[in-house]
Amino acid sequence: MEIFVVPDAAATGVVAAGILAAVVRSKPDAVLGVATGGSPLPAYQALAGHRLDMSGVRAFALDEYVGLPAGHPQSYGEVVRREVTERLGMDPALVRVPAGNAADPGQAAEDYDAAIRAAGGVDVQLLGIGHNGHLAFNEPGSAFSSRTRVEVLAERTRAANARYFTSESDVPRRCITQGLGTILEARHLLLMVAGTDKAGILARALHGEVSEDCPASALQLHQHVTVVADEAAAALLAPGSGQVPVRVPREAVGV
Ligand code: GLP
Repeated sequence: MEIFVVPDAAATGVVAAGILAAVVRSKPDAVLGVATGGSPLPAYQALAGHRLDMSGVRAFALDEYVGLPAGHPQSYGEVVRREVTERLGMDPALVRVPAGNAADPGQAAEDYDAAIRAAGGVDVQLLGIGHNGHLAFNEPGSAFSSRTRVEVLAERTRAANARYFTSESDVPRRCITQGLGTILEARHLLLMVAGTDKAGILARALHGEVSEDCPASALQLHQHVTVVADEAAAALLAPGSGQVPVRVPREAVGV
């Protein structure tokens, strides 16, 4: 595991975008795993600045709400269209998001898992981390071997995501999420974390017990993980824990 510590959230985007750009340059039809939430947004913004030809790049989103009407502005399908596909000039036909409004969401989840495999797997998977240690919508208790499936959102997650809706009661109760087993099959995991409020859960995920009580602790089981954290989120990472964080100064990031 490599850990980069940068001054702020914008800088996490610069470092993550550099990693993504290198993948796309070496493989113009790379398969990117894209995430929603606030954490990865700086990476998409910074990657747009690289002005790469992204027209052949494929992408799979991590998760989607179940039951929002097609085109709902807070559906992850729409968020990915706005923040990723359009911003980066990608081909919409090559960018997949789970079909949260399918007649049979369980079947849609299975089909999605199969589609990732059929594409040859994910080259680099962007990730954020929830306050309870969730990855995608894998809440505490999710099996490390879990596949893409329909899940019930934790109340804490619904409360956290209420900021995107008019009220908490508008936040869907169910979702389709890639499983932890699905995510762990990506060849490279790229976790972006910013803010003091993530410091405790980041330290627990990287240095704590590997346990399904903390889904993000599954990162410790993967061979190729890059963590890009800002100073605030990295504040509780223990020196001498085996993974030595590399501090990247502001001048080197250029923001
Ligand atoms: C959301 C998403 C996750 C995301 C997490 C943290 O519910 N489903 O994929 O990583 O919560 O979000 P944020 O980056 O906004 O803190």
